[in-house]
Amino acid sequence: MHGWGCNREVWRPALARLRPWANITLLDLPGCSPDVESGEYRTLPELLAGILDCSPAKAVYVGWSLGGQLAVELALHSPSRVSAVVAVCSNPLFVAHGDWPGMDADVFQQFHAEVEEDPIAALKRFDTLQVAGSSRPRQLLRQLQKHAREPASAQLLAGLGWLATMDQRASLAKVQPPQLHVLADADALVPSALRQAIVSRIGALASAQVTLLPGSSHLAPLDAPAVLAQAIRQFLAASGTLRPRPHITVALEKKEVAASFSRAAASYDSVARLQRDVGEQLLSSLSQWQGEPATVLDLGCGTGFFCSELQIRYPQAQYVGLDIAQGMVKYARGRGGVNCDWLVADAEALPLAAESVDLVFSSLALQWCYRPEHLFAELARVLRAGGMCVFTSLGPNTLCELRSAWAAVDSHQHVNSFLPASELVEAAERIYGIEMHLKSSAFCMQYARVRDLLDELKTLGAHNMNRSRSAGLTSRSALQGMLQAYEVERSEGVLPATYDVIFGVLKKK
Ligand SMILES: C[S@@+](CC[C@H](N)C(=O)[O-])C[C@H]1O[C@@H](n2cnc3c(N)ncnc32)[C@H](O)[C@@H]1O
Repeated sequence: MHGWGCNREVWRPALARLRPWANITLLDLPGCSPDVESGEYRTLPELLAGILDCSPAKAVYVGWSLGGQLAVELALHSPSRVSAVVAVCSNPLFVAHGDWPGMDADVFQQFHAEVEEDPIAALKRFDTLQVAGSSRPRQLLRQLQKHAREPASAQLLAGLGWLATMDQRASLAKVQPPQLHVLADADALVPSALRQAIVSRIGALASAQVTLLPGSSHLAPLDAPAVLAQAIRQFLAASGTLRPRPHITVALEKKEVAASFSRAAASYDSVARLQRDVGEQLLSSLSQWQGEPATVLDLGCGTGFFCSELQIRYPQAQYVGLDIAQGMVKYARGRGGVNCDWLVADAEALPLAAESVDLVFSSLALQWCYRPEHLFAELARVLRAGGMCVFTSLGPNTLCELRSAWAAVDSHQHVNSFLPASELVEAAERIYGIEMHLKSSAFCMQYARVRDLLDELKTLGAHNMNRSRSAGLTSRSALQGMLQAYEVERSEGVLPATYDVIFGVLKKK
């Protein structure tokens, strides 16, 4: 959450440092944000309820300046929704009082009068106070003023009212979630002398910390984004809030996934039996949907087979076929017949505008994404309200027979590991504005020989790509051992290979 007189753009430079390990929801508070209806939030409880309405079920609340005070309020009043609080350049009592450091009361009153009289001029003056102390004030001012701020005077005055009256000094010790207070040593609005004052209030709490950013002005998210992101990460790790992600250890090298599918582009269709069956089922599930999409995205489109099928179903729609493998996209574009924009990109970082897609179709591609929060956040962003993503993916039981046969030989990872459906559900629950339903279904393929299965995986480009697979070539004797171990599965002359297929529907509310 941003501070008074700003909007969410103030966090933009820090995002590149935060997004690799955190899923971020940026909130626009009333006052200077064109997207927030003025007059909607008259009281502080109304504003806090509004914030919770558009936040994930549980989150770390990071607020800068007034946003920091709001984060503390949320932790006090709705602790079950708050896993930790980070208040950046934020004063628990903004206006100085007794020996509590803060803005001089007369200066505050005078500023209040200026906002009443001419909010645009007052904002400009406030900006110069925010950058005071920075080693690059002009650059920061330009950054700050690059984004249109439409001051809504009533909301700005309401914000000043909250700054004037919120007194959290006594409540800090009652905050249950872990709390971090970040101050900046060149801050002209929230004095760094607060450090001692805050420490004296939270001293007994093991889960509370105060830290000081060197060389930063009040505008720390713009002035010191890297150091700030690092301080937040360290605190969350130390307080046990950053959850360990065991599946990351089996994560895939995306470059390798892309290269492997690129190499397989020309041969893929010749062996994609399972992929056809699964994709056709997914396609037919669309019959229940009455919508007429204007824009359809085939995510992980591979050779573009299902783009053509989708175009038969929705001939009027605009199509985007997107895949991480350049070779696949080149092949799909080359086969012609579909009026489609072809893009090489990662499903976890879509180069598409917000709210630009009505229907996302994705068959057997999303199992290669190992950061489902990023994926679902991207889907939530690009889908229009009422839009939908239908997808199939693979679960961890995929190729369980092959995995068991290898386990009889050694302890290396020979088979791709995919995330369980429960992780997808958990990730989707953390994203605001979507709902998702999954169902799993086992598809059993049959092979005369294990080598046929291995050849097929290679021809598809889907052989083992886990980072933790054994380095170097598998020895001939290990391979023989695996082939032999697989034979226990033979029944009625054939060897089974199970695919744990997940069918999902994600709707944007
Ligand atoms: C098994 S193929 C499925 C292709 C097509 N959907 C079909 O059903 O025939 C998986 C495709 O997902 C693509 N893919 C893998 N990871 C991806 C990612 N992170 N973003 C976009 N595409 C990805 C691969 O390059 C590959 O073309």
